[in-house]
Amino acid sequence: MKLMKKGAEADIYQMMWQNSKAILKIRKPKNYRNSTLDSKICKQRTIKESQMLSQVKSFGIPTPLVYFVNLKNNSIIMQEIPGKPVHDLSESKIIELSKQIGKLVGMLHQNGVMHGDLTTSNFILFQNTVYVIDFGLSQNTIKSEDHAVDLRLIKEILNSAHAKIMQSAWKNFLLGYKSIVGSASFTKITKLVLDIESRGRYAQVV
Ligand SMILES: Nc1ncnc2c1ncn2[C@@H]1O[C@H](COP(=O)(O)OP(=O)(O)OP(=O)(O)O)[C@@H](O)[C@H]1O
Ligand SMILES: [Mg+2]
Repeated sequence: MKLMKKGAEADIYQMMWQNSKAILKIRKPKNYRNSTLDSKICKQRTIKESQMLSQVKSFGIPTPLVYFVNLKNNSIIMQEIPGKPVHDLSESKIIELSKQIGKLVGMLHQNGVMHGDLTTSNFILFQNTVYVIDFGLSQNTIKSEDHAVDLRLIKEILNSAHAKIMQSAWKNFLLGYKSIVGSASFTKITKLVLDIESRGRYAQVV
């Protein structure tokens, strides 16, 4: 088994699962958190992630197949998507894919799912398909306020990690998002994004 990534939250290993390339994601206890609370949080996120990876497939979101879940060590074995995180692609490719990412987020919201951790590292491009991963912080919610929090996060990520292309990427994201959720929801949610920003806890992003 090969360690692929030490994430903020979990360790990611590459392995084989019944002749297929697979990813083992193990959530490690954090020392700075109270240990009972910590194991509860890790377990909750493992359950949520494995459930949601499968749930969202039913309305057309490409995600890795879940092969095995072990709640004793909070690990998930899933299909490896052997592509590249959108974060690591060229600027022109990120601009182009932003529209598709907007559509995927629109589909999630339209079906009452908030992702909770929308970063460009959580979308993987493989054979012209954008896959969504990392559902540990996701929630079933139809509240516009929750959907606005998702949009605000990805906007912030585009602004910080992809500053040079932020304007065009965000514009394309919104085009894709609107094409799925429709004008009425779009207006409501983007207004809430501005509300969140104006609360001052967050800096406003152009
Ligand atoms: N199924 C998969 N196929 C291919 N690569 C994967 C898969 N799952 C995770 N990865 C890789 O591992 C990285 C971290 O995975 P993930 O986002 O699920 O964990 P995380 O601990 O929440 O990480 P972070 O805190 O960095 O977001 C991803 O950005 C991706 O590069
Ligand atoms: Mg991640």
